[in-house]
Amino acid sequence: MILFEEHAELLTLFEKFKELKTKEDQANSLELAEHASTVMNTLDEGIKELDNLDTFFEYLHQVGASHRRIPGFKVEYFWKIEKPFLTAVETTLGDRYTENVENIYKITIKFIIETLVKGYDNANAPT
Ligand code: HEM
Repeated sequence: MILFEEHAELLTLFEKFKELKTKEDQANSLELAEHASTVMNTLDEGIKELDNLDTFFEYLHQVGASHRRIPGFKVEYFWKIEKPFLTAVETTLGDRYTENVENIYKITIKFIIETLVKGYDNANAPT
């Protein structure tokens, strides 16, 4: 939730998306709070897939590409998740958040976001 507290302007994307959605989309529409846990689950899944890079790339490219359908979304918004994610890890791990662990998570989140960005960039813009 830190993400949306610090970047309140991102909230409007969710509001706009709500208004623009078709009937079909409305059925499986995410609320903002749900999206926060969707993001965390996606990062968690991504980390679990790190031992199989084919599925790692396929999964995160698809998630990145799916953001093409969100009006007003900019690819650089993916980077806004970097610091809140690291803060969440630090809070969760407490004493176990050593410098070494911090470095590992920094590299990991960077790699995940780069992969989301690539998926978004390589997807075709909606027509
Ligand atoms: C690491 C960053 C992010 C991850 C992992 C992520 C993940 C996801 C996933 C898995 C979905 C559902 C995709 C689908 O239905 O196929 C989604 C939908 C969405 N995301 Fe993200 N997202 C991220 C960042 C953002 C940001 C920064 C915004 C903009 C403020 C955003 C806005 C949305 C919106 C508006 C939807 C559609 C909600 C709906 O279906 O009702 N996402 N995201």
